[in-house]
Amino acid sequence: MNLMYPNLLFWMYVVLTLAEPPYIVPFKELDNADLYVQMDPNKIPKFLTKPSTYTVVTKDTIVLPCEVYNPGHFVLAWKKGIAILTAGITKVTPEERIRIVEGYNLEIRNAQINDAGNYICQIGTLDPVELKHTLQILIPPRIVGITSNGKVSAKKGSDVILQCNSTGNPPPTITWTRKNNMLPNGEKSFVGNSYTIDSVRRQDDGVYICTASSTIGSSVSEEIDLNILYPPEVKEERSIVFTVEGQETQIVCIVHAEPKAEVLWYRDTLQLDMTEWRITDVRGNRYTLGLRKVQKTDFGNYSCVADNGLGKSKRFIEVTGRPDVAVITSSKQGRSKNSYEMLWTVKSYSPILEYKLLYRQDRTNKSNQEIQYKRPMRRWDDDWTEILINPASTDQLEKRRTETIRGLDSGTRYEATVQSKNRYGWSEVSQPFFFTTSTKNEAHPGNSVLSDPELRDMSITAINKASKMIQIPLLCIVAVITYYLA
Ligand SMILES: *[C@@H]1O[C@H](CO)[C@@H](O)[C@H](O)[C@H]1NC(C)=O
Ligand SMILES: *[C@@H]1O[C@H](CO)[C@@H](O)[C@H](O)[C@H]1NC(C)=O
Ligand SMILES: *[C@@H]1O[C@H](CO)[C@@H](O)[C@H](O)[C@H]1NC(C)=O
Repeated sequence: MNLMYPNLLFWMYVVLTLAEPPYIVPFKELDNADLYVQMDPNKIPKFLTKPSTYTVVTKDTIVLPCEVYNPGHFVLAWKKGIAILTAGITKVTPEERIRIVEGYNLEIRNAQINDAGNYICQIGTLDPVELKHTLQILIPPRIVGITSNGKVSAKKGSDVILQCNSTGNPPPTITWTRKNNMLPNGEKSFVGNSYTIDSVRRQDDGVYICTASSTIGSSVSEEIDLNILYPPEVKEERSIVFTVEGQETQIVCIVHAEPKAEVLWYRDTLQLDMTEWRITDVRGNRYTLGLRKVQKTDFGNYSCVADNGLGKSKRFIEVTGRPDVAVITSSKQGRSKNSYEMLWTVKSYSPILEYKLLYRQDRTNKSNQEIQYKRPMRRWDDDWTEILINPASTDQLEKRRTETIRGLDSGTRYEATVQSKNRYGWSEVSQPFFFTTSTKNEAHPGNSVLSDPELRDMSITAINKASKMIQIPLLCIVAVITYYLA
């Protein structure tokens, strides 16, 4: 740096600056006290500019004013701290962006962060007079670093800290949001340089956005993609798959895993190879094992096993030809005193061979003595009464059946279950069903019974039969009368 500036004015200025008061004007003989320059008070230079604080944004140009009244022959200098920038019209600093403009104002072009500080305009009088401006440089927000360059992988259950480092003056505020979602704590946004998620969950996966904003310039954003790694979580679509030989059948497991899991299929302990008749399919999280034509050997206890390196998980699915569990759909309130019409449906791919209906008085709130059995048919497990029914065969997948239970007590609550059998065996026992007999017989069965199509058909048949019975004696009478008349 060329600080040895060969300018007389400059050296005069340096001496003025460094000397202790009282200041001495050096071009007089120093040993003669009478030769101290006496100032004419009217000629003392004065600042017309007031000290102040200037604020600019980086890259802007700023002019720091220094207007002096009555400058005389005194040297004006600009300093930044102790560094001399200019002396008189001479520029001392090598900084190209700085120059004197319009009188004695200091211009700084393309303002930089380091330009911030105190700028002093000084008059080299005996008692140097100073004007001090403060320059603040504002910097628009900028994001200088984000965690893992925006790609974060974390294991489920671990604590995750997302960071977003920024620069700017004033220091920017960092706001965290989540793309198309709320933050894991349910809030819309969070303010802070880092965002911590304790014990991340699978659903915390997603894109997080940090936005740096301040009063200066426009805000800037960066995205962090958070990828949660977790061992497979497997659910079966149905735990029992009902089918029949010759039927196409699908076994479905829903597998969530990150990274993606490999899924293998087993029947009992045998790992299944894929064949023309046994195929797998994956659609997103849905893993399907398709049996294109079920054979006797295909029935069994299947499992899908998902493994992604972080863990293993499996679910069992039974493939069976047995009937599904029956669903009892009749009203809980009976219409007769001593009988009850029970209606149920069963899904079975092959014909039902037999139904087993069990019922008993509900003794939830009754002591044993209070319960009296009117007409036990076949006693089963102490107090259950069993009715075995051979149904008419139907090709429909969903089979409906009504059965009248007779010999019941009036106004009494009963519990009943139904089980069905086809050639593959017995179904599970249906959920306990409770019904209560009526306290009086209803003269005309209400609409609700007749609204059932099967029952309606039955009663229509009965009416038709009845009318036929009336027709026969009528014909006889007509025949006899005709005979006698003839
Ligand atoms: C952010 O700044 C801190 C402190 O300087 C540093 O430790 C951290 O690594 C930085 N983070 C990023 C993501 O740049
Ligand atoms: C299938 O096998 C598993 C393991 O042996 C067993 O826990 C499960 O109860 C079986 N499922 C059926 C329907 O038999
Ligand atoms: C049995 O009695 C309890 C209370 O004693 C009552 O809350 C409950 O509803 C009763 N259950 C039936 C089926 O009557």
